[in-house]
Amino acid sequence: DWDASSIIEDQVAKIREKVGDAEVICGLSGGVDSAVAAALVHKAIGDQLTCVFVDHGLLRKGEVEQVKHDFVEATGIRLITVDAADDFLDALKGVSEPERKRKIIGEKFIRTFEKAQRQVLEEAGARGKEVKFLVQGTLYPDVVESGGGDGAANIKSHHNVGGLPKDIKFQLIEPLRTLFKDEVRAIGTELGLPDEIVWRQPFPGPGLGIRIVGEITRERLDVLREADAIAREELTKAGLDRDIWQCPVVLLADVHSVGVQGDERTYGSPIVLRPVSSEDAMTADWSRVPYDVLAAISTRITNECRQINRVVLDCTSKPPATIEWE
Ligand code: XMP
Repeated sequence: DWDASSIIEDQVAKIREKVGDAEVICGLSGGVDSAVAAALVHKAIGDQLTCVFVDHGLLRKGEVEQVKHDFVEATGIRLITVDAADDFLDALKGVSEPERKRKIIGEKFIRTFEKAQRQVLEEAGARGKEVKFLVQGTLYPDVVESGGGDGAANIKSHHNVGGLPKDIKFQLIEPLRTLFKDEVRAIGTELGLPDEIVWRQPFPGPGLGIRIVGEITRERLDVLREADAIAREELTKAGLDRDIWQCPVVLLADVHSVGVQGDERTYGSPIVLRPVSSEDAMTADWSRVPYDVLAAISTRITNECRQINRVVLDCTSKPPATIEWE
């Protein structure tokens, strides 16, 4: 039978043996997986672990503050944050093809961790040593969908698997690599992480970058960030957070349609709402969100985001569609 505490014990022993007295960093995304991976590694090696949170400019509203606050408070793990928005957004300029976006983001993450190494060692009081290991919260579905499972096709390159550069100088520690999300949540709870972290809805590492269909610009990110915050707020207000697996909000940046806002003709872009229910993200069904909740989201987005004149609902299962649009 599946048992969280024996998996934890087993992993703790393996991690200790692998790491020895080396320094380790963990890329934190704000999501469940990396938080649980960090907590597990912290249990194994304590202060040899430093977490790095990269602000790549593709985050949602309030995300940086939330990670700094919730995570550090709950775990006491040493955290440094790196502002790498210019770096990521420069590299993504002019790119609209989804797999290229994913590869660029995956590579930039690793380069950012490499650059952060000196600061990590200083904070850890380990100057002169080097960081040997990188912890990632990779799950089994990430591996399968990136084409890393037995005979699996490459559906999309998850930033932490198929999007990694070949010449990465860290050795990887991925204690969750054989697990599904519900198992990871059980482990997080067993490790004492609070519900706000364990029950967070999934958010992909490449962030809003894969929710703008088309080129990523700062202006488009601002629009999407606002629309996403509104949708999340209304879904939470309606008490639907646990019923819905996640609700990507997608900006169809290159699509334009005619609207009328404040007596004026507009030619704006649509926002897609993609609420889904799922057990493990391998398959999903579109969530039957009550009409009045959809209405509230639609009204607020078109009122508060000037560039948006239409809100549409994605009512497709996975398969045939994936959860994210890119
Ligand atoms: P798809 O779109 O493949 O998504 O149906 C399945 C689940 O994985 C999340 N996702 C990612 N998570 N890095 C991540 O950390 C990625 O590159 C990535 N791509 C998709 C997605 O949000 C959904 O929960």
